[in-house]
Amino acid sequence: MVKIVGLSGSPRKDGNTEILVKEALKAAKSRGAETEFVSLAGKEIQPCQACYTCRLEESKGECAIEDDLAEIFEKFKEADGIIIGSPVYFLTVTAQLKALFDRSLVLRYGKGKVKGKPGIKRTPDFLLSNKAGGAISVAGSTGQQLTILEILKWMVFQDMVVVGNEFDLGTNARAGLKGGARKDKAALQQARHTGLRVAEIAKRLNPGKITG
Ligand SMILES: Cc1cc2nc3c(=O)[nH]c(=O)nc-3n(C[C@H](O)[C@H](O)[C@H](O)COP(=O)(O)O)c2cc1C
Repeated sequence: MVKIVGLSGSPRKDGNTEILVKEALKAAKSRGAETEFVSLAGKEIQPCQACYTCRLEESKGECAIEDDLAEIFEKFKEADGIIIGSPVYFLTVTAQLKALFDRSLVLRYGKGKVKGKPGIKRTPDFLLSNKAGGAISVAGSTGQQLTILEILKWMVFQDMVVVGNEFDLGTNARAGLKGGARKDKAALQQARHTGLRVAEIAKRLNPGKITG
C-alpha cells in the first residue's frame, strides 16, 4: 500500500488549508492509499542558519537544529507521495513553510556520506526522489497560483514527480475566514483531484506496493 502524507503549512489550526489537505487525503485513501495528515500549526520550525552541517558526514543526515522538523522529515522520507498546502501570505507560502523548504537542504545531502570534495558531496542523495507531489493553496483573494508554483518548484528541486490539476497547476481555493473553504465546492473538488492524482502516480511509481 502506498503512503501519502498531506501537510498544511498554515499556522492556523482547523483553517482552510487543513480542510483542503484533508479532503485531498480522503480522496487518496479512496484509491487505496494509507494517509497521514501533518500540520505546521503550533510547531516550532526555526529558519535555516546556513551552518552546512547537513553536508558533513557527522550530520548523519540530520539537521543540526533541534525542533519539530525532524519528525516531519521522517514522515516525508517514509511517504510515497506528498501533498503540500499553504495559505497565501503576501502572494507566497507562509514563513513556516519556507523555513521547512530551506531546512530541507538536508534531504538533498541527507545520508551523511561524503563523496567528492572533503565535506561536500558531489552527488546529492535526493531523499525525496521519485515521490509523487501535489500542491494546494488558498487565499482570501489572490496569489494562489504563485503559491502553488513555490510548492511545485520545491518539489521539482527535490527530484519529485509533480501532478497538476485539470485546469490549474494545483488546487486553487478562495476563502478568507476560518472554515470558508468548506463552502467552496469547486475547490473541494480540485482538492479531491489532487489527492487522486498523487495516489495514482505514487502507485505507478511503486508497482510493488499496489494492494487496492
Ligand atoms: C500574514 C497574512 C498574509 C496574507 N496574505 C494574503 C495575500 O497576499 N493574498 C490573499 O488573498 N490573502 C492573504 N491572506 C489571507 C489568507 O490567505 C486566507 O485567510 C486563508 O484562507 C488562510 O488559510 P488558513 O485558514 O489555512 O490559515 C493573508 C493572511 C495573513 C494572516
